[in-house]
This record gives sequence, C-alpha cells and structure tokens, in this order.
Amino acid sequence: MRNSQNSGRAQPSVVALFSGGGGLDLGFAAAGFDICFATDVDPFSCNTLRINQKKRKMYPKHEVLEEDVSGLNAGAILKKSGLARGEVDVLIGGPPCQSFSVFGQRKGLADTRGGMVWEFHRIVDKLRPRAFVFENVYGIQSVHGGRVLRELRNRLSCHGKYDLSVETYEMAEHGIPQWRKRVFIVGVLGGDAPPRLAKKYGDDESCIPFNTAGQALANMPPPGEVLPNHRMRNHSAKIIKRYEKMPFGQRDNRTRINKLYPDKPSFTIVVGSDQGGGKGHVHPHEPREVTPRESARLQTFPDWWEFDGNVRHMIRQVGNAVPPLFAAQIATHIGVHVFGFPKAMTTRALIKRIGINFLH
Ligand SMILES: C[S@@+](CC[C@H](N)C(=O)[O-])C[C@H]1O[C@@H](n2cnc3c(N)ncnc32)[C@H](O)[C@@H]1O
Repeated sequence: MRNSQNSGRAQPSVVALFSGGGGLDLGFAAAGFDICFATDVDPFSCNTLRINQKKRKMYPKHEVLEEDVSGLNAGAILKKSGLARGEVDVLIGGPPCQSFSVFGQRKGLADTRGGMVWEFHRIVDKLRPRAFVFENVYGIQSVHGGRVLRELRNRLSCHGKYDLSVETYEMAEHGIPQWRKRVFIVGVLGGDAPPRLAKKYGDDESCIPFNTAGQALANMPPPGEVLPNHRMRNHSAKIIKRYEKMPFGQRDNRTRINKLYPDKPSFTIVVGSDQGGGKGHVHPHEPREVTPRESARLQTFPDWWEFDGNVRHMIRQVGNAVPPLFAAQIATHIGVHVFGFPKAMTTRALIKRIGINFLH
C-alpha cells in the first residue's frame, strides 16, 4: 500500500499551484498521487482542469480554484482541499517563467511575474509539505548572474529544514518527443532529497532511441473536430507554397517558425507573447502549422485531455506545461524515495496509465 507520511491517506496528498493546463498535475495523478487542490489565475486553465478531472477517474474529487496566488493563504488552501494542517504531502508548481526564459527579455525580478517564485516559497513555508516540486525554465539559472536561483535555494530550504536537489533535465532524454530543458527543485522535509533521475533515451547504445516528432504525429486524423483542439489556422497560398518547399529543420523567415524533422524530437514548444499568442512548428509532412492537439502530443498530453478556450488559450496552456510523461516519472521517483512506494513505475506503464496512445 502506498503510504502518505503526513496525512495517513492511501495516496499521498498533493496541493498544486500555478496548475495551468495541468501537465504537472496529470503526471502526479497518473503516478498514484491524490491531487486534492489545484489553482490558477487563468479562467481557461481552470476550466481545462475541471473538464478533465472527472475523465478516466484521474482525480475526480479535487477542488479547482481560480485565484491570484498572492491573495491565497494557507488556511484557504486547507479549507478548499479538505486537508488539515500537516496533511499536505506534496506541494507542486511551476510559477510563470516568461521573465526567466532565455526566449523572453529576461527582466527577472523586475517583472512582476518573476515575483511569483517567492509566492511558491511563501506557501511552502506556511503549509510545510513533506516534499515539494518546483519547476521552471532553464534560464532561471543564469538570470541576474545566478542570483535568483541562489536566493530561491536559500529561501526554499526554510532554514535547513528542507534538503534540496536542483537538477536540469532534458525532456527528450526521458522519452518526450521534444527538446525541452527544464529545472526542477525537489525539497524533502527532514530527509534526503531523491537522487537525479537517470537518463533513459538518447543516441548512445545504452539508451532507448529518442521518441520523435514523426512518431507523435503519426495516425492523426486530418485537422477538424474529431479530436479535441485539433484545429488548423488558415494559411495564405503564399505561406503554403513556402512551407511546401522548406527542408526539414529550416526556419521560415517571415513566420519565424521551424519545420519539424520527422525522425528527431521536436523543437521546443513555446508559448509566444501574451499579445500575439503562440505558434506551433511547421508539420513535417504537410504545408501547415501543427494544430494545438499536435503540439499537445509533442508535449505527451493524451488525446483525451481537452484544453478550454480559443486557439491562443490552448497554445498557451500546452506551451507552458510540464510534459505529463516527465511529471509522472519524477512523481513515481519521489513516491519511492519519500513515500515508500514499493517500486517506480516504468515509462511504458506510465504511458499506458496517462493514456498516451501514440508512444510505445
Ligand atoms: C508555467 S505555467 C504552469 C504550467 C503547469 N505547471 C503545467 O504543467 O501545465 C504558469 C501558470 O501560472 C499562472 N499564473 C500566472 N500568474 C499567476 C498568479 N498571480 N496567480 C496564480 N497563477 C498565476 C498562469 O496562468 C500559468 O498557467
């Protein structure tokens, strides 16, 4: 039986902040954690969570709260989640990362969204979960000459009460059909933080070959409404002509998007600016941008997971997410090292559990 050291529940309890489109939450649920509470300030993200929470009995009972985290206190979280003080096993969250991203203007702490990382610390300090998982972009390590990350480590240790591991992972090395580097800080209260997750996929002989964009996009019906969020943008005849002629891996000078290689992981899925909305990459075999559903596949969201809102809202949720397959791997790892799970679920078992029907 999986045990939850704080709450004594059958499954360790999770409080999720900055849930967005739900990648991190879905991964934890698939790995056997009980998501009791999720929150985000964005109404479309909250609807996405509400639409999907009852499907496949992943986490049917949790409470979704649409709220600015800076107005949330520990008491409100406990009340909404039905947990008593001391019963939160894991706090998870990826605060907004645009201000740290190497793709953005890197305003760091001068950008109010950068300040959200301190809100994550505030809630850790108040709730004192048994463990926490903080996720962010690779760029957080170097912004302000590394000062942000140093200060964050310092605060998240809560005066030495939490042991921390700070690791950068390349998602493609964990079976995600996409190059995507992300930083994960895992903290464990009064115990040792788990060791680094071992790389499984790669070009070396000891690894499983990378999953590719071609694999993820195979067997898709034509864009339309058969699958949720599988909607196409209209392109002009000029753009279509350019996309037809583009070799794999090349960037279109006008739309500034890349054509995917079918036999390699996808380029990183990005969100784009708040104003213009994000863009997908160019499909490897068709002269068009990939649809939000196809981008979701490149992020390892299963086809049954639906995103609320218009195309711009969908792309933001997809592009902001932790790939659920990676989230599930880190969750099962923490389950073993912190919560006494008998053994980690294999990647294959997690693929099945999440319901990803395009990777094997
Ligand atoms: C990087 S995304 C999180 C993605 C999520 N971890 C996933 O795996 O899908 C950051 C989220 O923080 C939310 N956010 C931004 N400012 C916020 C605030 N003041 N309070 C609560 N949520 C906020 C955004 O709406 C966005 O969904």
